[in-house]
Amino acid sequence: MIDLTRDWGDWTSVSLYLDRCQVDTPSELVRAAWDHVKSLRANVGKVLDLGAGDARFAIGGEYDEYIGYEIDAERCSNARLPNHARLVNRCAFSDDVDDADLCIGNPPFVRNQDLPAGWREQASEVLRRRLGISVSGLANAWQYFFLQSLASLKNDGLCVLVIPFEWVSRPSARALRDYIAEQQWEVNVYRLIDTTFDSVLTTSSITIVDKGKRSGRWSYFEETADGAYLQMPSASGSKAGVIEYVRRSDIPKGVPRAVRGLSPGTQKVLTLTEGERVRSGLAIGRDVVPCITTLRVLPGELRDLDDVAFKRHYRTPGQKCWLIRTDATPSATLLAYLNAVPSADYQTATCLERETWWAFKMPPVPEVLIAQSFKGGFPKGVRNMIGARAVGGVSGIYDASKDQVATIIGGLDGEDLRDRVVAHSNGLRKIEINQLNTLLVHRFSSVVD
Ligand SMILES: C[S@@+](CC[C@H](N)C(=O)[O-])C[C@H]1O[C@@H](n2cnc3c(N)ncnc32)[C@H](O)[C@@H]1O
Repeated sequence: MIDLTRDWGDWTSVSLYLDRCQVDTPSELVRAAWDHVKSLRANVGKVLDLGAGDARFAIGGEYDEYIGYEIDAERCSNARLPNHARLVNRCAFSDDVDDADLCIGNPPFVRNQDLPAGWREQASEVLRRRLGISVSGLANAWQYFFLQSLASLKNDGLCVLVIPFEWVSRPSARALRDYIAEQQWEVNVYRLIDTTFDSVLTTSSITIVDKGKRSGRWSYFEETADGAYLQMPSASGSKAGVIEYVRRSDIPKGVPRAVRGLSPGTQKVLTLTEGERVRSGLAIGRDVVPCITTLRVLPGELRDLDDVAFKRHYRTPGQKCWLIRTDATPSATLLAYLNAVPSADYQTATCLERETWWAFKMPPVPEVLIAQSFKGGFPKGVRNMIGARAVGGVSGIYDASKDQVATIIGGLDGEDLRDRVVAHSNGLRKIEINQLNTLLVHRFSSVVD
């Protein structure tokens, strides 16, 4: 395996990636995927499974030949293979297969920041060469496998993959969606009930791209409690459809803009609780500044994040609420703190790719702190009266006037987004930054006009 992954990057980031890949598909889901295949194809010749694990997708279907690509030699050697099936211990991006009738499987879900740099470069290069597509730097691993599957199919081939439902709306999958739409291939997406994978916090789907049907039609279905599927009017389930994504360059002057929360690389050591700050002797202002990583701890009605609220809901209960300063020469105390961090605590691709593992670019202070995930009709937002930075799932809204701030934290005059963003996980919905920007443009550019 070390040989196969030598060009991906250092072994720590490679083994981190491989650990995150190891999720086994439940047998009912393998069966459900094959049921779809059977309803669409009477005969299947060559089957390809990229990221095959123990080749569990080799079971449950009829075909002439199954080839599973699996990087992990151990998983290959433990596999019990039916007739006509074989596993090859190779990287899924090392061969240009182009004659598969069916690509089936469950590719790894590994976030962009946990992909080894060399892995991403190699896979991107293969896809650029084969399909002319530039995969977004923000893409999760499954996107690369999805595209490689499409590239490996015959002109009338069928792609049946278990991937996150959110590919139908995520900005990072735009190139992938545009590519499929351009080819006019028929797409059917079956959203699965949330509990399918316990360990992966995301809503999955069985996604089917039929290259043999060029209707250009995209249909969405939702799994019901009894395992049947109901067609949804749109990807979000509502007639109004999913909120579109505005490009940053299309936001007019005078309109506030939302920016994603900082990903410092590791919140574990680069953000601190009050206790951690005090024990390390880090001074407020000199070494750390306030930051907010979650708004969940705030009472629903609270709209002003002032010193009192910050103390009561973040500092005293031991929430992460201090961000180390990287915009000034670190004091001796801060340096001592950073130097004492065990290297095991910053083994993330983001930290490892930096010259200095902790040196993130310090974001400015937003006027509003707003959550991206929400359960009710609109994400929770608060007036930032303490100069806190937005971190992680908390985003910042910048360039907002006093009145605009009041409108935003009041829920943009009663906007109900429940049916207009795609479900994320466990009943949570997640609004993407550029969807939030669409709402801001709609609400505030009419006032400018
Ligand atoms: C989510 S698991 C799915 C395994 C199996 N197909 C299943 O459904 O249970 C993804 C698999 O992809 C493998 N993998 C990751 N990167 C790979 C690559 N570049 N080439 C081939 N296999 C890879 C991982 O080792 C892992 O076994």
